Amino acid sequence: PTLCVLISGNGSNLQAIIDRINDGTLHARIGCVISNRPDAYGLERAKEAGIEAHCLDHHDYADRESYDEALARLISQYDPQCVVLAGFMRILTADFVNSLRGKLVNIHPSLLPKYKGLNTHQRAIDNGDKEHGVSVHFVTPELDGGPVIIQSKVPVFEGDTAEELASRVQEQERQLYPYVLNWICSGRLAMKENKAVLDDEEL
Ligand code: GRF
Repeated sequence: PTLCVLISGNGSNLQAIIDRINDGTLHARIGCVISNRPDAYGLERAKEAGIEAHCLDHHDYADRESYDEALARLISQYDPQCVVLAGFMRILTADFVNSLRGKLVNIHPSLLPKYKGLNTHQRAIDNGDKEHGVSVHFVTPELDGGPVIIQSKVPVFEGDTAEELASRVQEQERQLYPYVLNWICSGRLAMKENKAVLDDEEL
């Protein structure tokens, strides 16, 4: 199975996916990595790993629709089983999302439905939450609102900074994402009627 991985930044989730493919625990290949930002460090990680890497800079497009059309065209050249959002910091149009229905997954740094959107770690701290975490979910047109596949929790400690909490969450992300992608690549996990279904059981 082929994955396309979309990034905007550091690419630590991308790196985890590459590492699990290389050590044989994730049975997939990465057709390409696409970044909307030319300076994304994840592009270097892709090149280092010998993976095709593209920058599709959103500044080169007049609007969200034309950007997403170009993105969809590029992705379709690889005919991927799954399109993996791994720190891709752009809102996608409903047309784009619907054209990849059931194939598009995202990792979001909160225990959804809590804290959709940005600054999730600071918001969890400000709210006095005792636990926080990460969710992997299928993407639907509703931002961070698609069916959750799996979550992993971490404790929030007294006096945590957003950075400290983020790094605790990201450690979980790197384990969780490759694990879930294996379910998709092996055909065990799918989205059916807006629900995540693993081995015919609703999650
Ligand atoms: C992660 O925290 C992810 O949950 C969020 O953006 C961050 C991306 O990190 N969507 P990286 O680029 O994979 O290092």
